[in-house]
Amino acid sequence: MGRGMYSGELALKFLPMQAADIDVVIKNERRAYSHPWTEGIFRDCLASGNECWMLKVADRVVGHAILSMGAGESHLLNICVNPEFQGQGFGERLLVHIVERAGVNHCSCVFLEVRASNLTAYKLYERQGFTEIGIRKNYYPGHMGAEDALVLVKELILE
Ligand SMILES: CC(C)(COP(=O)(O)OP(=O)(O)OC[C@H]1O[C@@H](n2cnc3c(N)ncnc32)[C@H](O)[C@@H]1OP(=O)(O)O)[C@@H](O)C(=O)NCCC(=O)NCCS
Repeated sequence: MGRGMYSGELALKFLPMQAADIDVVIKNERRAYSHPWTEGIFRDCLASGNECWMLKVADRVVGHAILSMGAGESHLLNICVNPEFQGQGFGERLLVHIVERAGVNHCSCVFLEVRASNLTAYKLYERQGFTEIGIRKNYYPGHMGAEDALVLVKELILE
């Protein structure tokens, strides 16, 4: 398989997350993040009417993404791929899907924060047309003290 967008033969499906999925989603979350979300945060996200999506590959949940929306704008709150499945373009597929959902919901832009040290995610966002617009000092907890967040945005063309 070449680098870049996943283009394999495996059945690839996007499914809306439901409360019953949180157990499996949280396994991926805990493996992928140093500071994973709790079950309660996922429950709140579902209850708040956010766009909460899972990516399934050959019937295995490999990742998830969550987008909040309000006042015609959106915010990517979480995007995560199980480490076993990273580097194969699934993160990019999830990102494209969630940006599409922002468009379907008539949002004019997608904001996100990313850890200053998270180069893989940063490069992915850049490839997908996000640009850096600011920095939030000491935004994330870290093992070596707090870490800055970079704020990125992608403007969407409204139909
Ligand atoms: C960020 C994250 C979602 C990206 O997911 P992913 O599935 O690894 O993303 P992709 O495969 O689309 O792209 C990642 C890298 O793999 C490369 N890649 C993509 N397809 C590839 C393939 N078929 N073969 C080899 N490499 C490939 C990409 O070029 C990219 O390389 P780079 O790091 O040099 O830029 C994932 O790393 C993750 O879950 N990280 C932990 C949670 C996190 O940090 N989330 C973001 C918070 S802001």
